[in-house]
Amino acid sequence: MQITEELKKVFHEQFQAKPLIVRSPGRINIIGEHTDYNEGLVLPAAIDKAAYIAASLRDDDEIHLVAMDLNEKFSINLKDLQPVGAVNWPNYLLGSAAQFLKRGTKLPGFNAVLTSTVPIGAGLSSSAAVECAMIFALNEILQTNIDKIAMVKMAQQAEHEYAGVMCGIMDQFASMMGKRDYVIKLDCRSLEYEYVPFKLDGIKVLLLNTNVNHSLASSEYNTRRKECKTAVEWVSEHVQGINSLRNVTEEMLNSYVLPKDKLIDKRSRYVVQEINRLEEGCTYLENGNLVELGKKMFATHDGLSKMYQVSCKELDWLVDKVRNNPDVIGARMMGGGFGGCTINLVKENAIDELVTTLKLDYEKEMELPLTYYVASIDNGTEIITS
Ligand code: GLA
Repeated sequence: MQITEELKKVFHEQFQAKPLIVRSPGRINIIGEHTDYNEGLVLPAAIDKAAYIAASLRDDDEIHLVAMDLNEKFSINLKDLQPVGAVNWPNYLLGSAAQFLKRGTKLPGFNAVLTSTVPIGAGLSSSAAVECAMIFALNEILQTNIDKIAMVKMAQQAEHEYAGVMCGIMDQFASMMGKRDYVIKLDCRSLEYEYVPFKLDGIKVLLLNTNVNHSLASSEYNTRRKECKTAVEWVSEHVQGINSLRNVTEEMLNSYVLPKDKLIDKRSRYVVQEINRLEEGCTYLENGNLVELGKKMFATHDGLSKMYQVSCKELDWLVDKVRNNPDVIGARMMGGGFGGCTINLVKENAIDELVTTLKLDYEKEMELPLTYYVASIDNGTEIITS
């Protein structure tokens, strides 16, 4: 495999050592958006685009990192380990290493070379892929025997502490736990999960990348989290046992949130509806009723755009353009929002023509390039060579 060979070569040039190589994928999510940090359910899957890390331990206390795609290097002594402001990419690796120290593991210095085929800023969780790859690799070379779910939580913490995004658990879970040809129905409250077959006859997952740089995304993301928390606090003043939006009903919102604040109502109502929508959508998937699943995906988009307000004009444009196209079963914006990709379930034989037409119109009207990927569902984090 070409990527592995290239990684080994760069690793050898930099460190004159033989590394362990780990692959950890990006993810898609069929339905269930912004539900993970509200203790709802999600339906993600790992894809065939991934971060690759080559790593080996050192004899000293230094961390030496290389970003192969950027041709950049970074090093730091373990005693100075903290988020670095100036450059971005090392944070995902350093944050991952820091989780081992937090567990009380004795961490020596290490070398790591990173490369990735997950497009950055496309809403495909390129950062979760890197965190999971780094944690998996360190677990292996340190022989710490940490179980996968614990590693998922460590990767999520790395994102909180070193990237400042208070993300839910979906991305890291999907990257680590993915399984070829299955989506994961994950209950983000209990972390119980189930693999649901996702082999769609003649239908493919088409990702359309707006190429909008979502710089607003992390601050708005954290704001949405706070808005949901406020709704939970207001409901819990009246109803016992409520500590997330998971068990909140629209009736509760009518009584305790809507009268107080329309915006908080709109935000939390989207989440309450989406938690139910996922359950229904998943049943449709299990019964092979893709048409109804597709309708739910469009409904999710509308909720994200109008109620949760995490879309943008480019995402809305892409979804509206395919809404009445009989070859497109379902479409919606995916991930945190404010840019990135739409996910589309499209009849395989219609993809080429659809993309050609959309590209022309999109580039003319939005003055941005439109890129696309046909994603296949792949395995989660794994060792490539040791
Ligand atoms: C980002 C976060 C996830 C999740 C999605 C929205 O990808 O990292 O935890 O909240 O947004 O569903």
